[in-house]
Formats: sequence, C-alpha cells, structure tokens
Amino acid sequence: MSSILKASNVTKKFKGLVAVDDLDFDMKDNTIHSLIGPNGAGKTTTVNLITGVHDLTSGSVEFDGKIISGLPTYKIARSGIGRTFQNIKIFSSMTVLENIMVGGHEQAKLGLVRGVFDFKASKAEEKKLREKAEEILNKIGMYELKDKLMKNLPYGRQKISEIGRAMMNDPILILLDEPAAGLNPSERAELIQVITKTHREGFSYFLIEHNMDVVMNISDYITVLNFGRKIAEGTPKEVQNNEEVIKAYLGNKYVTKKKVSGEV
Ligand SMILES: Nc1ncnc2c1ncn2[C@@H]1O[C@H](COP(=O)(O)OP(=O)(O)OP(=O)(O)O)[C@@H](O)[C@H]1O
Ligand SMILES: [Mg+2]
Repeated sequence: MSSILKASNVTKKFKGLVAVDDLDFDMKDNTIHSLIGPNGAGKTTTVNLITGVHDLTSGSVEFDGKIISGLPTYKIARSGIGRTFQNIKIFSSMTVLENIMVGGHEQAKLGLVRGVFDFKASKAEEKKLREKAEEILNKIGMYELKDKLMKNLPYGRQKISEIGRAMMNDPILILLDEPAAGLNPSERAELIQVITKTHREGFSYFLIEHNMDVVMNISDYITVLNFGRKIAEGTPKEVQNNEEVIKAYLGNKYVTKKKVSGEV
C-alpha cells in the first residue's frame, strides 16, 4: 500500500516544552489512521504541524509523495488535506448549507465569511459552491437539514457538519480532531456511520479521538503518543495489548482476554 501521509523525525518545541518529539509515522492510503494518547500528548500539535498552522522545529511531513512541511496552510489545504478542529467552529446564525459552503472559500477568514458571501462571490460561483455543498450534505446524510439554522441542530449533527465543510476543498485526506467529544452514544453511532461510509467512498481519515469505542471500531492502524513521543503503533488489537500503552493511557479495559488453558 502506498503512503499518503508520512511524518519523519517531526519535532515541535514551544520555548522549553517539547510538544512533539521526533515523531515518525507512515499512514497508508485509503485507511483510517488514528493518533491517540493522554491529554497534552501532542496530538493537536501534530495536526497543526501537518496543516501548516505551526512551523516544525525539525523534521518533515510528506503528503501524497511530496514534502508539504514549510508550505502555507492554504497551499496544504489546496493540495488535498481537509481538517476539523478540536473546538467546534460553526456559524450558528447561518444555515447548514451556508456553513458547508464556507469550506469552499479557502481565503475567507472565519468571521469575515458573511461579507464574502454578500459582496464578493459572483452568482455563478455561488451556484457552483451551493451545488457542491448540497452534494456533500447528501454524502453525510444531512441534505434534508440544509435550510435549518445551524444553532437549531443537535450537537452531534453540528459536529458532523464540520466534516462536510472540510470536504468542500476536495480533500483526499481529512484530519479529525476529537469528532466524538461531547456526543451521546447514538450521535457517536451516527458519526461512525458517516466516517465509515465516506471512507468507503474514497476519503482517508487521520483521526484523533479519546473515545476508544470509536477508535478501536474504525481504525486500521493506530499511533500512540505520550509526552510528545511515539510509544507504540499497530493495529487496534496490537495497541490494546501493548503494556506501555496500557500503563500510559488505556488501562486494562481493552486487553484481549487471554484464554485460560482448557477454556474453549
Ligand atoms: N501554541 C502553544 N504554545 C505553547 N504550548 C503549546 C501550544 N500548543 C500546545 N502547547 C502545549 O503542547 C503540549 C501538547 O498539546 P496538544 O494540544 O498538542 O495536546 P493534545 O494531545 O491535543 O491534548 P488533548 O487531548 O488535551 O487535546 C501541551 O503541553 C500544550 O500545553
Ligand atoms: Mg488536542
């Protein structure tokens, strides 16, 4: 399988603090690859390094065979990487459709979007964006909600809509930073359904998540961080049974039960 996202010796220092420490991983194309670890382990920082929000202190990031570290965020986004944020970023007083369309305005700064809509976007351009947003709403099962105000949607739908917004720039890889945080079990099930369906349709996902039911259910491969350092990687099963991961993060909840001799 070919690589879609490759981090080589990635380090990020914030003054004295090493937030990401010599991180290597190789995410394969067409997979769901998760990055897990305790609070403060460096997960969001890693996403910010991949997307160009932060400069790397050292190391490099390759996407689809090309080095992207050092490029500005808009170029990285344009090259085919979408993302969502750990803290929800929605426009409450705009419709669901408009919230998705915002993702198509790469230059539009959050907050200035209304102005861009009203004054800048040509009618033809807006029509194109609207059609694309409607297509995406169909993909994520939210088409019937398109004219509702975002603030009137349940939190789970608001979070899922952010994945839709990330799809507006035609990404092949989407980075999700804690999409299940704050969701109830049925909302989590919906989220899993949207991720796995769109994954089957061609999106690769790099997932940061604390909810282990989500992670263990849908990941092909997992990288585990602790204090900025990779402490393990492997399939969900391998990671669940890794002593260091159990000690640093998971506890015993996920250890595959060993068969007692004689047990069937
Ligand atoms: N802009 C910044 N300036 C200084 N320190 C930062 C900055 N961003 C993150 N850090 C620090 O880097 C470390 C890693 O933070 P990060 O947000 O990447 O953790 P995380 O794994 O995403 O945690 P969580 O699960 O709580 O979201 C933390 O100690 C954090 O305080
Ligand atoms: Mg984080």
